[in-house]
Amino acid sequence: MSGENPYLAHLPPSQRKIGGNGSDPFTGMIVRKTTAEQAEKLENGSFNPFTNKPFTAKYQSILEGRRKLPVHAQRSEFLDMIHSSQFIVLVGETGSGKTTQIPQFMVYDELPHLKGKQIACTQPRRVAAMSVAQRVADEMDVELGQEVGYNIRFEDNTSPKTFLKYMTDGMLLREAMSDPKLSRYSAIILDEAHERTLNTDILMGLLKEICKTRRDLQVVIMSATLDAGKFQKYFDNAPLLNVPGRTFPVEIYYTPEPERDYLEAAIRTVVQIHVSEPEGDILVFLTGEEEIEQACRKIKAEVDEQIRQTDCGPIKVVPLYSTLPPSAQQRIFDRAPPPRKPGGTPGRKVVVSTNIAETSLTIDGIVYVIDPGFAKQKVYNPRIRVESLLVSPISKASAQQRAGRAGRTRPGKAFRLYTEGAFNKELIEQTYPEILRSNLGSVVLQLKKLGIDDLVHFDFMDPPAPETLMRALELLNYLGALDDDGELTPTGEMMSAFPLDPQLCKMLIESPKYRCSNEILSIAALLSVPQIFIRPNEARKLADEAKANFTHGDGDHLTLLNAYHAYKTNNDNPDWCWENFLNHRSLKSADNVRQQLKRTMESWDLDLVSTPFEDKAYFTNIRKAMTAGFFMQVAHLERSGHYFTMKDNQPVQLHPSSGLGHKPEWVLYHEFVLTTRNYIRTCTEVKADWLLDIAPSYYNMGNFPQSSAKRALEKLLSRRARVIEEDSRKSKKRRS
Ligand code: CDP
Ligand code: MG
Repeated sequence: MSGENPYLAHLPPSQRKIGGNGSDPFTGMIVRKTTAEQAEKLENGSFNPFTNKPFTAKYQSILEGRRKLPVHAQRSEFLDMIHSSQFIVLVGETGSGKTTQIPQFMVYDELPHLKGKQIACTQPRRVAAMSVAQRVADEMDVELGQEVGYNIRFEDNTSPKTFLKYMTDGMLLREAMSDPKLSRYSAIILDEAHERTLNTDILMGLLKEICKTRRDLQVVIMSATLDAGKFQKYFDNAPLLNVPGRTFPVEIYYTPEPERDYLEAAIRTVVQIHVSEPEGDILVFLTGEEEIEQACRKIKAEVDEQIRQTDCGPIKVVPLYSTLPPSAQQRIFDRAPPPRKPGGTPGRKVVVSTNIAETSLTIDGIVYVIDPGFAKQKVYNPRIRVESLLVSPISKASAQQRAGRAGRTRPGKAFRLYTEGAFNKELIEQTYPEILRSNLGSVVLQLKKLGIDDLVHFDFMDPPAPETLMRALELLNYLGALDDDGELTPTGEMMSAFPLDPQLCKMLIESPKYRCSNEILSIAALLSVPQIFIRPNEARKLADEAKANFTHGDGDHLTLLNAYHAYKTNNDNPDWCWENFLNHRSLKSADNVRQQLKRTMESWDLDLVSTPFEDKAYFTNIRKAMTAGFFMQVAHLERSGHYFTMKDNQPVQLHPSSGLGHKPEWVLYHEFVLTTRNYIRTCTEVKADWLLDIAPSYYNMGNFPQSSAKRALEKLLSRRARVIEEDSRKSKKRRS
């Protein structure tokens, strides 16, 4: 190829001169290499180079702010680095502009739309992907979903025009299954790599592999913590760009004594800060939706009480967690309320958030941070095959990140609701990577589909425990996704096409056999969205009465289905949902998920059928199809009145939310919930006969540990054997 640059040929002649073009050391192709100055000239122009429309005034004002972000000062350095290295590692304080600016730097450098390529920026959290995509669409003066979009599970907000895509790491992994070279991308930015999510870890290994043959693929690893050495080493000593943060000192306060109730202590601290500390917003870290909503209510009530007694300012309390609707999430960016009267005490914003606010979303104006030291974290015990979300102590690294949120705009204060001794002695340095704390069933299936057969030698940054891998292989083997040699079966191939846990995939695939695929589709969708039943604190009784109308005594899955059918019969009416204590947003999203799963079913020629409702077998068939997917999640009722999980013999209780009308001998459960007790949640009655017939290899008595469940099954088996013997005797008699 001679002097002509193929990437620039599409540009109008006036723009072709931009950039000091050199030749790519690997392909010899001439590529565009832009300087920061040239890119800024484009950004400063009066026309948007991507839409050819004039830039709006809003664009101009945002641009001014963007130029002040710390990463901006290093634009040149960044471009030099990506021009000379395939992998780079970038670290910078939260709020320095990594997530919003770096992808744009790359867009202006590569102009991916001219090559028919895209740039992907991955996020561990759905919320962050959506929210940041919106912000960047605003910054680039384009409509969200057009040039800039996002893609999260069950929601693809992109168009053929999209060249910059924010997506969850899980979605990119999924894409790799159908496009193993990730050929549609010219650059991939793995953001929040310090979080070490399961999917990001797998993606890192995969990208290392892909880049061996795709020399044109640029990879940027971004992280909020300064411990970048591990990433650099993993990526063959990739160069590091360190963006010095513009942070202010944060004073750390510990409690002198351990707090007995961190929630109550957090609320008390908010009120104290509000009445005694100067202006500045507060960020409180709590662990989950219910706790956060409760804290918000109490803070409001207590501050209202204070307002009656003192001249303290007004307060705006804003919750933040992942299942909150996007419009409600946007409220974290609202300003603090004005003083109650002119010249009065200024108001304050209080954001009560999960870990999302630790690094994923930057909230400006925070001066006080309250850190009780806990977060909901996934834990997996391969021995008893239980994965659960557990409120557990955070790491020192997390505590430092949290405190740092207070020093973004000016010097701040962080209140740790634990003792200094506990911080030093009890908190671990870094949170363990998720791969060491997860059930790997889904991931192993995906890796197999990606053609990675030798899991033991896959280049994991931190290899999972062998027992965990064994458990995953075992699960997939019982489900028929892998054969005895560990090869993907046709069933496994089909299962990997659904973005769901392997058990749900299997249940869907088997459902046509039981003539209930339409219903199983609905159940799978309902299990994939946030809880559809609402139970507000102030109206628990009414809510329970409303739920009772849908309750099916044989199983909570059937209750979900009843509610969904009623919702459809009432034409998706939001008012009807409200009256019946149903979450309209969840039901709507279940509808959408169902549509998408239906398309996948159709693409594999899986029949969509129902048993007639009048048929006695209607609900039984549904329960059998569920057994086909979840036969490994069954508990048995012992004569003592206690449930024990099958094979692993863990004592469990039915979750209080269960509507089962009685205590059936065998229950299939969707989730194992670990709190102070072991609960099984979303339970449905099944029959021992089904277990033996549907999953004979799992219920093979030869490898079944002694338990009351085993005795019950053996009894059933010998009864069956007797019946067969009897039958054959009778038929012999008849013949002779
Ligand atoms: O990724 P990093 O934490 O380094 O920063 P960022 O998410 O790119 O955010 C940089 C700045 O953009 C923030 O400090 C905010 O001032 C602004 N921003 C905003 O105003 N609204 C958003 N939705 C996101 C970011
Ligand atoms: Mg970020």
